[in-house]
Amino acid sequence: MVQTPVLIDTDPGTDDAVALLLAAALHMPVRGVLSSYGNLPLKQTHANAAALLRALDIQAPLIRGADAVSPNAEEIHGMNGLGGADFSTFLPERDCSVSTPERLLETYPQWDYIVLGPLTNLARLLHDCPAVCQRIRSVTVMGGGFERYNMPRDTEFNFYCDPQAVQTVLQSDLPLTLIPLDVTHTVTLSLRQIHALPQGCLRQKLFKQVLLYNCAAGIGHGCGGAVLHDAVAVAASRFPERFCFEQTTVCCDRYGHIARLTGGKKMRVAVRTDSRWMYEMLAKSMAYLEQL
Ligand code: RIB
Ligand code: CA
Repeated sequence: MVQTPVLIDTDPGTDDAVALLLAAALHMPVRGVLSSYGNLPLKQTHANAAALLRALDIQAPLIRGADAVSPNAEEIHGMNGLGGADFSTFLPERDCSVSTPERLLETYPQWDYIVLGPLTNLARLLHDCPAVCQRIRSVTVMGGGFERYNMPRDTEFNFYCDPQAVQTVLQSDLPLTLIPLDVTHTVTLSLRQIHALPQGCLRQKLFKQVLLYNCAAGIGHGCGGAVLHDAVAVAASRFPERFCFEQTTVCCDRYGHIARLTGGKKMRVAVRTDSRWMYEMLAKSMAYLEQL
């Protein structure tokens, strides 16, 4: 069966790194990656994405996306965005991301688009190149929170970074699946679970360091363990049958706060998943690293 190419729009970020690990271990057909500002400035997130793609042997073009000022998330992701884990050995000698997001979309007739950071890249594509956006078959977004928040004014980080982009995407006719904090916070990994993961090779040691940093930040914020928001979004895109969804209509205010309101954008919203299954997926993904 021919699989629809996947484009991952990401601001690595510790949980973005685990999301990319999952995509690699699941052999998802990742045919393009867009870097974005967010957890850190673009310079750092783009370098992180380049190193992660090489470390995970994800052979897809990496395109430099949007840069903008965003809240400092070093407390959650570390000064280098990867919990201090040093992936520099995997960093390519030179940056070969010479193309543009619209040129990338033109390489395949259809895409499943997964957003793990601010929606700035997608909103720009919708505004500047509406025709090429017709190639986007589905959009899975990690973002927003209905009763869970992590930023001021009852918002979530990705939506808080660029609320206008959220509104642009909600006004489009793109088929959306939303993975909000309300469901990502139900999947936490304890310190014990993380220590039980394999660490025999360099890649496993590095990803375990990423997980431990995320876990410490999560515990520091009262979450009880590592909260891997973006990995949940990738899992939902690949295995929707493992999630419960509701069909609803969603509005976004000028700060990025979302609510279920009549007249909002129709979309599928993830409401529940199986955290034990997610851990099993992560454990298999860590084991996969031994093959690289
Ligand atoms: O609110 C969580 C989201 O914001 C995740 O995507 C995390 O990586 C940050 O980008
Ligand atoms: Ca992210």
